[in-house]
Amino acid sequence: MTDPQIVLAERVQQALAAAFGAEHADADPLIRPSQFADFQANVAMSLAKRLRRSPREVAQALAAELSDFPGTVEVSGPGFLNITLDDSWIAAEATGMLRDPRAGVGTVTPAQTIVIDYSAPNAAKEMHVGHLRTTIVGDALARVHEHVGNTVIRQNHLGDWGTPFGMLIEHLLDIGEETAVAQLEAGMGTEFYQAARAKFDGDDGFKARSRTRVTTLQSGDADTLRLWHVFMDATVRYFNKVYGMLGVTLTDADIAGESMYNPMLAQTCDDLETAGVAVMSEGALCLFPPGFTGSDDKPLPLIIRKSDGGYGYASTDMAAIRYRVHDLKADRILYVVGADQALHFRMVFAAAQQAGWLPDTVSAEHVQIGMMLGKDGRRFKTRSGESVKLMDLLQEAVDRAGAAIAERGYDEATRAEIAQVVGMGAVKYADLSVSHDSEYVFDFDRMLKFTGNTGPYMQYATARIRSIFRKAGVTPADAGGAVVPAQPAERALALHLLRFGALVEHVATASEPHTLCAFLFETASLFSTFYEECPVIKDGVDAETTQQRLALCALTLRVLETGLGLLGVPVPERM
Ligand code: ARG
Repeated sequence: MTDPQIVLAERVQQALAAAFGAEHADADPLIRPSQFADFQANVAMSLAKRLRRSPREVAQALAAELSDFPGTVEVSGPGFLNITLDDSWIAAEATGMLRDPRAGVGTVTPAQTIVIDYSAPNAAKEMHVGHLRTTIVGDALARVHEHVGNTVIRQNHLGDWGTPFGMLIEHLLDIGEETAVAQLEAGMGTEFYQAARAKFDGDDGFKARSRTRVTTLQSGDADTLRLWHVFMDATVRYFNKVYGMLGVTLTDADIAGESMYNPMLAQTCDDLETAGVAVMSEGALCLFPPGFTGSDDKPLPLIIRKSDGGYGYASTDMAAIRYRVHDLKADRILYVVGADQALHFRMVFAAAQQAGWLPDTVSAEHVQIGMMLGKDGRRFKTRSGESVKLMDLLQEAVDRAGAAIAERGYDEATRAEIAQVVGMGAVKYADLSVSHDSEYVFDFDRMLKFTGNTGPYMQYATARIRSIFRKAGVTPADAGGAVVPAQPAERALALHLLRFGALVEHVATASEPHTLCAFLFETASLFSTFYEECPVIKDGVDAETTQQRLALCALTLRVLETGLGLLGVPVPERM
């Protein structure tokens, strides 16, 4: 771990224990970046009262213990500790990081099994923009966890079961399999659903057929199941097109849709009833996890078997949580799902705890995804009011990116390639750079800007560093010299880069990809300042300085590319 702030915190804690006894070793050293030094530690102020000594005295005692620290430690004001790291320490750490194939990112021990439930579009409808964000955020979390050495089990909890499938299958039969498959593969799931729905509402014969079909489907009738597969396979082929376009890591092997739990639901209900956790209420089998009441102060039910005997979303989630803990052996389960389902998940988690299915050693977390808004501040829709087709939206991002780089003189093929990378990078980065639980305005103009905390700016920052290496005639991998931060801008950049490993670990622990975006954006900004103030290749810059600066460029590039890779944001070689 090279994060200077963390290294420092540990050292100050050791000093606390040495000066005032082991019982103080856990005190928060209250370290902050400072304008007068690299850092300021304020622990003396808070500790003084407890020790009945003056803060200055406490600070002086700590400074004495820190005398062998690789930097200067000064007591200032009433009892602040101003700490400035030695340039040689920064140089050694940064050089070590450059040589470290993991660029300072550690691996967690013991490794955990992390089940990540994300994407999860509904097959009965079109995949919509809300699923875009859960897909992108979930995928970034999966990449980060794998990178820090955890075992990731992706679970794409597709909405692929339930009563709508009766009418969907009947509609499929009406229009013919071939036509149906062609429509679904083209992403016309919404139109398909709407056509089925219209017939269901207006045609009693169709309605009756649909109802019977639900029953035959649920009874496991082979012909009906085949039709269900025809429908699902075509739908999944469309989802896969979207995943391919986005460059997310989900595969067919990660599909664990609602249908998968269907055979477990009867047992799930029985077990919950036997355990005394589920009780009958108004004909339905319900869970009443403690602590949830409705507006009328009555306990709020989680219905796991409706009065007609049917199962629903909550039944499936109860079966799923048991499966994930018991069969998948999850240490953590991350549900990357819309914030509007917060109550549902709190109740599912509480009920699972009550049933003894979610032990204290396993943590179930709802990573809430904020709603996607249009520029008008309302739920994102097209002008005609329909929800937007995801594939069209993604294609528009690529087209706009292509237009933005039209003047740069690339041949057609190169331009198309860059447009793809920039378009998808823009969409993904925009989703990730905002804290996942806040609402988010989908705005092409803003996400495609080449300045500010955007995908294209971050991609441009890496392309620019690559172009420095092309000019120097070496590859970044060959820039094996030492990082020697001599100028303030070099020092600031190097000191910042050293935080990378701790930050990645933070993203894994706290499920906060936006903090990595903020870090990378600051990296790019500090690099810009460095590049303005410290020419790398120029007349008058000696060869050794060039070497050292190239090493810092290489380290910056590694951090930017590794970080963007963990976010799932692609980087172009040039742009
Ligand atoms: N299909 C659901 C939806 O679109 C999301 C499923 C999330 N996962 C879960 N285990 N409930 O809203």
